[in-house]
Amino acid sequence: MILIREIRDLQGLLQAQQAEGKTIGFVPTMGALHSGHLSLVEQAGKQTDFVVVSIFVNPTQFNDPKDLDQYPRTLEADLKLLESTPCQLVFSPKVETMYPEPDKRQFQFGELEQVMEGQFRPGHFNGVAQIVSKLFEIVKPDKAFFGQKDFQQLVIVKAMVKQLNLPVEIIACPIVREASGLAMSSRNERLSKEQRENAALIYKTLCQARNNAPDLSVEEVKRQVVEEINANAFLETEYFEIVNDTDLKPVLRWDDPVNKVACIAVFCGEVRLIDNLVF
Ligand code: PAF
Repeated sequence: MILIREIRDLQGLLQAQQAEGKTIGFVPTMGALHSGHLSLVEQAGKQTDFVVVSIFVNPTQFNDPKDLDQYPRTLEADLKLLESTPCQLVFSPKVETMYPEPDKRQFQFGELEQVMEGQFRPGHFNGVAQIVSKLFEIVKPDKAFFGQKDFQQLVIVKAMVKQLNLPVEIIACPIVREASGLAMSSRNERLSKEQRENAALIYKTLCQARNNAPDLSVEEVKRQVVEEINANAFLETEYFEIVNDTDLKPVLRWDDPVNKVACIAVFCGEVRLIDNLVF
């Protein structure tokens, strides 16, 4: 496995792979890798010939400078974890390399970026689109792998690929969970033992809500979920929405003929956790 810091070195290596007719699989990450990321790398290894993982904490997608400062940076440990995966190349550039000058691009995703995460993290998805489009331009992957935990991000990245006519296929990979049901996230490391145990209630409540769904209205299910989670002293719901999985419009009735995803953001102390479940 090779570690590359400079764009020119990366491109030289990738061109050689492409010249040999190899397909490139790409897993963009911000590091602090866990089993969720590794499952994306495994999937990339199954579907493509040469797997590139990027590790880059992207400043433009953080609307809270404290969150950016506190984001874990664990390159050594990440590289160790990747050694036993199909990853062949790690691209970990400096901020100045990715942003030699400020990126002034403003993407327009309409309602997709105004709801849920977009409502509570203004500018976040513009920052994600800036960095993912730059990385796609540099790596030129045949396929890129994203986790379904960041469901809205996945929808936005697909929209961006369409808007920019990028020749990359976006592959959605299932959420990986801890034994308790808590969705894997780099942020889980910031939870105390007690917080982590209590955070398992998020997934449990989503599963219960899905079971109750046919007997209650959408509004009743939404109210129950928020009440149940907020009754736990460690947790505070920021939003809970049940949306159409394509345009992210709210689902009003269970018999709406659309695929439904229930998306939630919950504060556990200072740590903001997100999760979702297909209904
Ligand atoms: O999901 C993430 O870790 C980040 O948003 C991504 C896609 C690597 C862009 O910085």
